[in-house]
Amino acid sequence: MSDYSSTIDLAGSVYLQPNYFQIQKRINYLVDYYLSVEKLRDRLEDLPHQFKRPQPRLWQSIDWYAIAPTQIIGIDKQTFLSILIGTINTEAPIRNYTQTSRQYLTKIHPQMARFVGGIVDENGTLLEPGLWEKEERQHTPALIKIYQHLTGEKITPQLPSVKPYQPSDNPYEDLYLHGLHRTMTEYGATCLYLWLMAHTTGALQQVFAELVQDEINHMTKFWGFGVWLFPESYLTRIYRSLCRFIVQQKSTQLSHFQSTKN
Ligand SMILES: [Fe+2]
Ligand SMILES: [Fe+2]
Repeated sequence: MSDYSSTIDLAGSVYLQPNYFQIQKRINYLVDYYLSVEKLRDRLEDLPHQFKRPQPRLWQSIDWYAIAPTQIIGIDKQTFLSILIGTINTEAPIRNYTQTSRQYLTKIHPQMARFVGGIVDENGTLLEPGLWEKEERQHTPALIKIYQHLTGEKITPQLPSVKPYQPSDNPYEDLYLHGLHRTMTEYGATCLYLWLMAHTTGALQQVFAELVQDEINHMTKFWGFGVWLFPESYLTRIYRSLCRFIVQQKSTQLSHFQSTKN
């Protein structure tokens, strides 16, 4: 049976060889559905419940054996696989991501620290992973499975180095900068998986639908938490960061001047 027996999939109308405008139409359809105000509100209101009783979001069952190269639409298979490999590598070091975030959060909001990074003992040994990790750690194996079903080959992730916890004397500001980065990476993952949904159909698209729902869930929670914890306007924070940067630069110049004078 053809993968295109149905002309409608999760991104709306299916086109065999879509043009730019047809892909845009599919992306808009996905944005309207997955990023609706109702869905974002639901994900944000879920956060306090997850503090009390953490429950990973369950995935719909996927027919992995139905995944086939014919389900890639609008891009060539090689380009698709290159994007897939990059995504596998980026998703892979999830334990390092969660533990770095936990360290930035621990002093400021222990409940959110537990949500992202779980519970550790006094030696730093992980006793229980956080909910964020439990959901995210499914992503790399799912992407690896896609690669195997499309190519018949196994792939091992190449782990990138992860920026470690680097505290300053201002944990509140450290968390702001770290949290902003985390929120943006969840936002980036959301955009990527929506884009991949627009370029796929069938069982292949269903996997990206699960991935994107996890990313939207995390992005919304991180973003909402950030807005609650840092209510000052973005411009105020940029102004303060700039002032701090100028002071740092001046003190560096001064110490350099003194060391060359001595
Ligand atoms: Fe992910
Ligand atoms: Fe993520």
